[in-house]
Amino acid sequence: MFKQVTPAPVPADDLAAALAPFGQSRMLPREAYVDPAVFEWEKGNIFSGWHCVGHAADLDGVGAQKAVGSGPNGILLVRGEDNQVRAFANVCRHRGHEMLACGGSAKRRGIVCPYHSWSYKLDGQLRKAPGFDATEGFDAGQFGLTELRLVNWHGYLFVDPSGTDVDFADHVAGMEDIVGPYRPEDLTVVARHSYELETNWKVIVENYQECYHCSAIHPELSKISPPTSGENIDLPGDWMGGWMSMIDEAETMSLSGRSGGVAIKGLSEQELRTVMYLVGFPNLLVSLHPDYVMTHLMTPLAVDRTHVECAWSFPKEALEKPDFDPSYAVDFWDLTNRQDWAACESVQRGLSSPHARPGPLAPDEDGVYQFVTRVARAYTGTR
Ligand code: FES
Ligand SMILES: [Fe+2]
Repeated sequence: MFKQVTPAPVPADDLAAALAPFGQSRMLPREAYVDPAVFEWEKGNIFSGWHCVGHAADLDGVGAQKAVGSGPNGILLVRGEDNQVRAFANVCRHRGHEMLACGGSAKRRGIVCPYHSWSYKLDGQLRKAPGFDATEGFDAGQFGLTELRLVNWHGYLFVDPSGTDVDFADHVAGMEDIVGPYRPEDLTVVARHSYELETNWKVIVENYQECYHCSAIHPELSKISPPTSGENIDLPGDWMGGWMSMIDEAETMSLSGRSGGVAIKGLSEQELRTVMYLVGFPNLLVSLHPDYVMTHLMTPLAVDRTHVECAWSFPKEALEKPDFDPSYAVDFWDLTNRQDWAACESVQRGLSSPHARPGPLAPDEDGVYQFVTRVARAYTGTR
């Protein structure tokens, strides 16, 4: 399904430069990072399609409810009697109140609007509208919550609020073979960090898509995983990414290179020696390690502000170890995250200068090129 979209409000020349062949192209127009009008456009044209809204395990048990996103992309997630998670537009069919405030959560056998107490079943059907019993012709069947397309893919929840994005299989084309062996749906989130960054969400993805910066700002990471040890992969869907090898002595990404956990069962020799870094376009970063999976879930708050939730998941065999302590992975990446966040926030301040111009991409920034051109194609109004 393709819909006609208005191009993003960015200069056409700059957009063409971003789409030039790799080696000659430039970064996205400066407006993409600093202009609130572009941010609004992205909400309506990028974040209105498939994007990640969290981990299925966050909705713990029948009746668990959570509101994510806001405004046009405000979504209510609900785990139903059948144990399936559903997504609804977070808007009451009476007069439009949100069922839960953005970021709020609840657990009950029904969904109740806080304004005039209309109540819905967990599958979205209207159960009771107080005072309407005697109203002639009132048909409760017409006033169920609006259900949105949702896919629970390996424990990650994806929603398409627009209802017009491509089939989910096309969105994640090529990913099953890469993510499947790690069985993220069977891992347990053991640690989470929440960061609020003063930077545009795309600066974070671009930073994640290259290790050209690693030797300058990540001495600890570079010791375990040499910055030029990897390659990017070319995939048919909307996701992108690449892998990096670890030195022979290292078991995983940690300060010492040692693992405090257990390797994920069934991984290949290659998977046990590498870390795969994936961008689940637009807002989920998935880092597949031999013994844990780390995700960064980005929620853009403003053109220059982004919330990032970093979560670390481990196999149950690790959790069963009596002395299991995830800090070997958490501390390593918290340190690395903070090095990255400082760079990303500095880039944002730099780009706010009227003298900032879209720069060229280095040979090692082909991953950035994949992301930039994916965004630039969206800006032109085509896929
Ligand atoms: S707006 Fe929800 S019950 Fe009135
Ligand atoms: Fe980095």
